[in-house]
Amino acid sequence: MEPRLLPTVPYATLDDYLAAGGGAGLDAARKVDAEVLIGELEASGLRGRGGAGFPTGTKWRTVAANRSDTVPTTVVVNAAEGEPGTFKDRTIMRTNPYAVIEGALIAAGAVGADRVIVAMKRPDVDNAADLERMRAALGEAIAAGWCDHGVVEIFEGPEEYLYGEETALLEVLNGRPPFPRIAPPFRHGADELVDADAAQGPARHSTGAGKSANVELAGPGAETPAPPALVDNVETLANVPSIVAKGAQWFRAVGTEESPGSIVCTVTGAVAHDGVGEIAMGTTVRKAIERIGGGVRRGERIVGVLGGASTALLPVEQLDTPLTYEAMAAAGAALGSASLIVISDGDDIAAVAAGFARFLAVESCGQCTPCKSDGLEISDRLGALCAGEGSQEDLDVIAHRLTTVSDGARCNLALQTQTVVGSLLERHPEAFRVHLDADTAAVAPVVVAEIDEIADDRAVLADRAGTKQPDWTYGDTWSGTYPAALLGADQTPDDQALADAGPAADEQ
Ligand SMILES: Cc1cc2nc3c(=O)[nH]c(=O)nc-3n(C[C@H](O)[C@H](O)[C@H](O)COP(=O)(O)O)c2cc1C
Ligand code: SF4
Repeated sequence: MEPRLLPTVPYATLDDYLAAGGGAGLDAARKVDAEVLIGELEASGLRGRGGAGFPTGTKWRTVAANRSDTVPTTVVVNAAEGEPGTFKDRTIMRTNPYAVIEGALIAAGAVGADRVIVAMKRPDVDNAADLERMRAALGEAIAAGWCDHGVVEIFEGPEEYLYGEETALLEVLNGRPPFPRIAPPFRHGADELVDADAAQGPARHSTGAGKSANVELAGPGAETPAPPALVDNVETLANVPSIVAKGAQWFRAVGTEESPGSIVCTVTGAVAHDGVGEIAMGTTVRKAIERIGGGVRRGERIVGVLGGASTALLPVEQLDTPLTYEAMAAAGAALGSASLIVISDGDDIAAVAAGFARFLAVESCGQCTPCKSDGLEISDRLGALCAGEGSQEDLDVIAHRLTTVSDGARCNLALQTQTVVGSLLERHPEAFRVHLDADTAAVAPVVVAEIDEIADDRAVLADRAGTKQPDWTYGDTWSGTYPAALLGADQTPDDQALADAGPAADEQ
């Protein structure tokens, strides 16, 4: 397959991109009605690459239909990539930033937005270059007149995993901590954009009086004067220019009926080399591991594949599953954000489960009590088990907490604990039970964290990885208070009732 999103040689300048045919989508989009653009996106079958796989054209239509007469719509590029085992959005932004900007501008035209915000993470030693690259690309786009119809800005947000959850991201844009809302983005977007310099992190940019998610209670059917936002993933938007320039049928020439196009995969774990590559949708998981990761690490055998911290384990017997939304779901896993973390017989499955449980429990905001408290209990008991201090009672309690952790969950994170840890326990119960044996050596939970870089064929995790505490501080101990309480969220009974009705954020 000819690369569609990841050029063989990264585009160094806008001129390089234009010479390769870039810009044609924006030119074409400016000559047609929004309805035509939305229709073309619907016909293409493009599905959101941020994890949920929601049909992009349908989302655009919903956002366009919910426009406010008085307050403008915003297009938000979700460039907050933090899923463990995922490095694809940063790879796209490094090699092909112009397609992301062009796609976002086309989206703005389609949904009637006059503002585009590229939501990245604030710079630290590891990602400063990515921000600079995006800023430089945007500067060229502005100079070329691409942005004459509105404002395009780059926003720098916090490092929290939840910042990537779309409603939490909108909260951050409004100056509050990354706590997921109940109202989905098509019901309530970004009201006011906080100056990036003023937003210095959850603890510091919380107002104290700020109620975070509680100010956005627009449930289904509620009257709200709020403007919607279109939140789309980097890769989703990078696909848009070619669809508009070359047509839906061109896009569908690769992939399957339900999962058309290509997908940018990150392959890490027990492989010869970690990496990112673009492949046709429908390529099998096995081939993706071979092509991008060079196959399993020498001397080891694959046990299964995890899709970041989000999906159930795909067992080794199902490695020939095509990478499509439908086939991965039918196999009991999910495509997610195409993160393939290869688990081998060299891994201790209990330590893997303990690592993912810890990551999710720490990153949970605590607005929904079971997510945080049950998540921490699962994590603590798995940690004790790995340390050789566990009992059958721990295993029983873990099994029970996995059934309650997602009760009343506002976002998908709680369900992720249930799915990831539950699938490891279900598929490999013996790997947990063996730690009840006094002769089994103690192991530390594996460190699960965002990838900061892929260097010398290895994924590099942040220095801070593994030291983050459940109250989102770093150090040896924590306050015992959940981020939602510490940083200013308070739930009202009505709010909780809506939360009990289930997650609404991805309902669009
Ligand atoms: C805990 C959590 C973290 C997420 N992180 C990201 C992320 O880093 N980037 C992203 O694009 N979507 C992320 N998502 C998914 C977004 O909420 C949302 O579905 C996505 O931005 C929609 O864009 P798309 O339709 O283009 O996929 C996350 C979801 C959850 C529940
Ligand atoms: S499910 Fe968990 S992470 Fe999501 S809003 Fe509730 S407490 Fe926060």
